Amino acid sequence: MSDTVGQFIEFLRRHDDEAWAAIVASLLPDVHPVDQNALRVWFAFYPVKLFRMLAEDEARARQDCLLNGRYRLADHIHTSHRFFYGHRFWPKVQKAVLIDLRTPPRTTLENHIRQAARRTGVDPALALGITAVAYATLQQVGVEAFLTPPPPMDVPPLEPELIVAERRRPEPRTVWDMLLRSEINQTYTIRFDEHDPAAKFQAIYGQPLTTAAGQMPNAAAFKAKDPRCVAGPIPTECQTGACGTCWIGVLSGAENLSAITPFEVTRLKKIGYPYDGTEHPVIRLACKTVCEGKASIVIPPWNGVLANWDHPPIRG
Ligand code: FES
Repeated sequence: MSDTVGQFIEFLRRHDDEAWAAIVASLLPDVHPVDQNALRVWFAFYPVKLFRMLAEDEARARQDCLLNGRYRLADHIHTSHRFFYGHRFWPKVQKAVLIDLRTPPRTTLENHIRQAARRTGVDPALALGITAVAYATLQQVGVEAFLTPPPPMDVPPLEPELIVAERRRPEPRTVWDMLLRSEINQTYTIRFDEHDPAAKFQAIYGQPLTTAAGQMPNAAAFKAKDPRCVAGPIPTECQTGACGTCWIGVLSGAENLSAITPFEVTRLKKIGYPYDGTEHPVIRLACKTVCEGKASIVIPPWNGVLANWDHPPIRG
């Protein structure tokens, strides 16, 4: 590794979750609406804290924090951000970020991100979010892994405005629905992969998301891809808000999900997942989140109890 590359990685590694939260907050107003929640969700799914725990003692982190699933960002460098619209620009973003490694860091990380987003040649509003993800990925996986060639970006060629409009469009209603159904027995679409038209399930008004997901006709099939998915695409275990297995990110429709309760707030904090203090945050426990309208969610590839790292259990 050359001196300048080493200096840049060292510079990146000085940024903790608090520093990244400040950068994300500052970038957000300039990020296209299609990727604003995606940006917040990604930094919740791949915190620096998790990276540092794994780097310090992976075996202890796995045991103390009950890590489950694919928790290493290094295992999915080119796909962890597939839920971004900007995912399609990843190869351009990789190249734009690499230019920074030729010289020592010369400004703030936020400025480096903004300059690299402009170098991609893409509308900066669309490149900004995925560029921030690229620097955070580089911080965690190192330059050699970051440089591996990405697979083809298999995303449909949709305009971002169309995606935003589709998210805001009210759920289409049949005449039957309008004549015979009241609000409380309406069903709504919950998408869990916006790139795949089949990746969705129906939830009845007032139904917890995990219950609705478990009633998908092919609910049992998801276990073959992810052993945590015992009933539908959302991993579950306790169904009581205790374990944190069912955490999700909300890309759109956060206001169409039940307002977060004090119990869920307490559980999110105890488990160590980020809670932003709002009534409709983008990180939820799906077994405690009730459908009140359509939404688009993202399912993280891992779960655990990160709070255990600060207070490791006493071992005999
Ligand atoms: S399944 Fe355990 S918290 Fe939701």
